[in-house]
Amino acid sequence: MNTIEACIFDLDGVIVDTAVYHYKAWKRLANELGFDFTEEDNEKLKGVSRMASLNLILGWGGVTKTDAEKEELATRKNDWYVDMINKMTPGEVLPGAKEFVELCKSDGIKTALGSASKNSMTILEKVDITHLFDVVIDGNKVSKAKPDPEVFLKGAEALGIEPQYCVVFEDAIAGIEAAKAGGMKAIGIGDPKVLHEADLVVSGLNEMTLDKL
Ligand code: BG6
Ligand code: MG
Repeated sequence: MNTIEACIFDLDGVIVDTAVYHYKAWKRLANELGFDFTEEDNEKLKGVSRMASLNLILGWGGVTKTDAEKEELATRKNDWYVDMINKMTPGEVLPGAKEFVELCKSDGIKTALGSASKNSMTILEKVDITHLFDVVIDGNKVSKAKPDPEVFLKGAEALGIEPQYCVVFEDAIAGIEAAKAGGMKAIGIGDPKVLHEADLVVSGLNEMTLDKL
């Protein structure tokens, strides 16, 4: 019998592919500081908060900055990123994502968004899917970053569902770890070799069916 009562979705890389916009903005910042980083390095930024991402990038460039300078750099990057996401359209929702969240809702399964991004609401509005989520927990509502389970536990609590009846959908290793640390089932979106801690890995939500929950 299916005992799953809630599905909690990460945003970047699960519902929309905003990783490319994050990459462009961070790359522009690194270039202005006189260095570059690869797309492979960029993979390490998935699921990682804005300031933690900046610290990683500065480390790759061998650059040291004060806390005040870091705040300014993170804001500069975010302004470029926001310019890009403000141009997003409903066509940028990843294949099958909208359909699967709708399927969950029609089956009586509660839905939440659990994302590290402080820009989550802007993105949901731009791609016109805010109404699909009963609860949104984003980077503005948490103090501990993934792999800490805070974002998912807050989502479950707001939905009124015990963690063991929740499934988390995640494309980042840190996100799978966070789900597991919170006592939830985790479904990876991406490469099974990378997301081997997940209970199941699919290439996208277009591969999901309710009986896989
Ligand atoms: C995560 C992304 O969802 O959000 C990270 O995977 C990003 O790449 C993080 O750094 C924070 O996003 P934002 O929009 O608050 O800078
Ligand atoms: Mg993600």
